[in-house]
Amino acid sequence: MSGLKKLDKQGVQILYFDSALRFCPSVPVDYTEDKHHMAKIGLFYGSSTGNTEYVAYEMKAEFDKRDPSLVEVFNIGSTSIEQFLQFDYLILGIPTWNTGQLQDDWEFFLPKLAGANMSGKRVAIFGLGDQNGYGFNFLDAVGMLADEVMKLGAQLWGLWPTSNYEFEESLAQVEDHFLSLGVDQEGQSEKTPARIAEWVNQVIEEFEVLENQPA
Ligand SMILES: Cc1cc2nc3c(=O)[nH]c(=O)nc-3n(C[C@H](O)[C@H](O)[C@H](O)COP(=O)(O)O)c2cc1C
Repeated sequence: MSGLKKLDKQGVQILYFDSALRFCPSVPVDYTEDKHHMAKIGLFYGSSTGNTEYVAYEMKAEFDKRDPSLVEVFNIGSTSIEQFLQFDYLILGIPTWNTGQLQDDWEFFLPKLAGANMSGKRVAIFGLGDQNGYGFNFLDAVGMLADEVMKLGAQLWGLWPTSNYEFEESLAQVEDHFLSLGVDQEGQSEKTPARIAEWVNQVIEEFEVLENQPA
C-alpha cells in the first residue's frame, strides 16, 4: 500500500495516501528522489483571473498529443523552489498586471529564487496581456521574468515575432520579437489555439526533447 507516514503531536502515526497529497501541501514530499518518474518539462504558471491557467492547460493538451509524459503543470502560487529547480526544461506562464507589474504569485515567488543556479536550464515563457487596454505596457511582466531567469544563467527559448500584434511599448520586446509567446485573450482570443499549437512545436524543437521522434 503506498502512503506517507508522519507523526502527529502525540506521536501517533498518521498515514497520508498519495491521492490526498495534493490537498495537503504541508506534508514534506521529496520530489528529488523520484527524478526518473518525473516529466521532462515543468510548466509553471501564475494566474489571477484564470486566463493564464486556461492557456497552461491548453498548452499541456498540445504537448500531450506529442508525448503525454512530457509536461507536468504547476501553479507557481503553490510551488516550492525545490520543485521548480528540479526541472532542466521549464515553461513559465505569466500575465502582466496593474499596468506593467508582475502577477502577484510570481511577484511573491521570484525573490525566493535569488541566488539559485539556473545555468544549463532551458526556459521558454508565454505571456498574457491586453494590447488594446495596456498598449504601453503590453506583456511587460515577461520582460521582467526573462531578465530574472537569464541573470540566474538560464537559456531563453520560445521567442515569438511581434508581427500580428498592435501595441506601443513592451518590456518583452527585443527588435522584432517578444521574449515569449504573446497571448491576448481580451483582443485576439480567436488566434490563441493556433498560436499555442505552433509555439508548442517550436519549443519541442528548440528544447530538443523529442529528438528521435519526428512530428
Ligand atoms: C487592472 C489590470 C491591469 C492590467 N495591466 C496590464 C498591463 O500592464 N499589460 C498587459 O499587457 N496586460 C494587462 N492587463 C491584462 C491582463 O494581463 C490580462 O487580462 C490577462 O489575461 C490576465 O491573466 P490572468 O487571468 O491569468 O490573471 C491588465 C488587466 C487588469 C484587469
